[in-house]
Amino acid sequence: VNSVQKAGASPAQWSSRFAFIMAAVGSAVGLGNIWKFPYITGENGGGAFVLVYLGCIAIIGIPIMMAEVMLGRRGGKSPIGTMQVLSRAEGRSRGWVGIGILATLASFLILSFYSVIAGWTMPYIVSAASGELSNISAETSGALFEGLLASPGQLLLWHSVFMGLTVLVSAGGVRHGLERAVTKLMPALFVLLLILVGYATTTGHFGEAVSFLFRPDFSSLTAEAVLVALGHAFFTLSLASGAMMAYGAYLNKKVSIVRTSFTVAILDTCVAMLAGLAIFPVVFAHGLAAGEGPGLIFVTLPVAFGQMPGGSFFALLFFVLLLFAAWSSSISMLESLVSHLHERGISRVKAAIGGGLVAWLIGITTLLSLNVWSDFAPLSMFERFEGKTLFDLYDYFTANIMMPLCAFLTAVFAGWVMKPEHSAAELGQRWHGVWYAVMRYFTPIAVLIVFYTNLG
Ligand code: PHE
Ligand code: NA
Repeated sequence: VNSVQKAGASPAQWSSRFAFIMAAVGSAVGLGNIWKFPYITGENGGGAFVLVYLGCIAIIGIPIMMAEVMLGRRGGKSPIGTMQVLSRAEGRSRGWVGIGILATLASFLILSFYSVIAGWTMPYIVSAASGELSNISAETSGALFEGLLASPGQLLLWHSVFMGLTVLVSAGGVRHGLERAVTKLMPALFVLLLILVGYATTTGHFGEAVSFLFRPDFSSLTAEAVLVALGHAFFTLSLASGAMMAYGAYLNKKVSIVRTSFTVAILDTCVAMLAGLAIFPVVFAHGLAAGEGPGLIFVTLPVAFGQMPGGSFFALLFFVLLLFAAWSSSISMLESLVSHLHERGISRVKAAIGGGLVAWLIGITTLLSLNVWSDFAPLSMFERFEGKTLFDLYDYFTANIMMPLCAFLTAVFAGWVMKPEHSAAELGQRWHGVWYAVMRYFTPIAVLIVFYTNLG
C-alpha cells in the first residue's frame, strides 16, 4: 500500500498516512513517556495524577493535536510561516504569528535540556555492553547515576554527541532517514517495554504498582499537580511546540487528521503506561523512592535488568532504543526553527548547525545545574520557584507556562479566529461539529481554569 501511495506523493510530503503516523509517533514517543512520565507520577503521588493526565490527553490534548495538524496542513509552512499565511488568509491581525514564535521558542528551549537527558542513555549503553550492570544492587545503581551527574565532562561529551546526531538528520531534511528508521525502531521499543512489564510481574510488587498508578487518591492532589499533568499532556504529545504543526505541513490532503491524531495519542499513551508498569514494581520491590526525581528510570531499570536472564543484552537494547526514541523527538523539536529559517532563504544545513549550536550552548547551563551549579536557584525569591535549578526552571517554564499558553492561543485561533468552513475543509464534516465546540469553549476555558487556580 505504501509504495503505491509513494509514487503519487510529491517529494515535499510524507509518503503515506502510515509514514506520517510513524514520524508523529517518533516525535511524540520519547523521554517524555519513559523518563518524565514515571518520575513526575512518582513525585505527584500516583493514581490521581495519572487520571488527570489521561483526562488532559483525551479531552484537551487530542483536540489540540487535531487543531495543530489542521493548521499546519492548511498553512503548509513552518509554524511561524503557517501562522503568517493563515492570519492573512483569515483577514486577521498579524499578531497571531505570536503562536508560531512562542511554539518555536518552546521547542528550542526544550531541545536544549532534552539533549542533556538523552545523552544519559549513552553511558548506560556503554555500561550495559561492558557487563557492569549485571546483578547490580540498588545502591550501586544509585551511585553509578550520581557519578554520571557529578561529571560535567562526561555529560558534556554525551550532550554534544546527541546534539550532533540531531543536527545531522535535521540538516538533511527530516523526511529522508526518519521514516524508515522509526517504522522499525518504535515497534521494537514497544516489544521491549512489554518484556520489561513481563519481568515486573515477577517482582511480587506488581499489584502494588498497579494500585499506585491507577487507584486515585484525590485528597492528595494539588492545583500544581494538575498544571503539571496538563503541561505534560502537551509535552508528551509534542503539542504547543510547533512539532505537530511543522509535520502537519508535509501531510497529504487526503489523510484523515481526526483518525490519525487518535492513533498517535493512543500509541503515545500506551508507551507511557507500559513504562509506568515496568518501573514501579521494581521501585517498590527494592524499597526505592517513587519520588526520586529525574534519576528514577536510570536508577531502577538497571536493577531490573541486572536480575533478568540475558539482562545485559536487554539493557543494551533498551538504552539504544530509548536513544533512538529521544532522537526522533529531538529532530522534531529543531524542525520549527530550521523550516522557518529555510523559508527565509537560509540553507537547511546552516540553519540546523546554527540552531543546534545555540541549543547546545543553552544545554551547557542545564548540564552545569546538575553539578557545579546545583545550588544556584536564581528565582528563589518566589515561593513557587524556591530551590529550582536552571534545569528545573527550563522544564517548568516550557511545560507549565509556555506550552499551556501556546495551546490556549492555538485553541482561540482555531475556534474563534479561523472560519469554521476552513477548519471543516481540513477535518471533514463528520467530526467537525464536536471538535469545533470543544475548541471554542472547552479547551480555552479548561486551560484558563488550571492556570487561574495555580495563581491563587
Ligand atoms: N513528545 C516528546 C516526548 O515525549 C517531547 C517533545 C516535546 C517533542 C515537544 C517535540 C516537541 O519525549
Ligand atoms: Na511522548
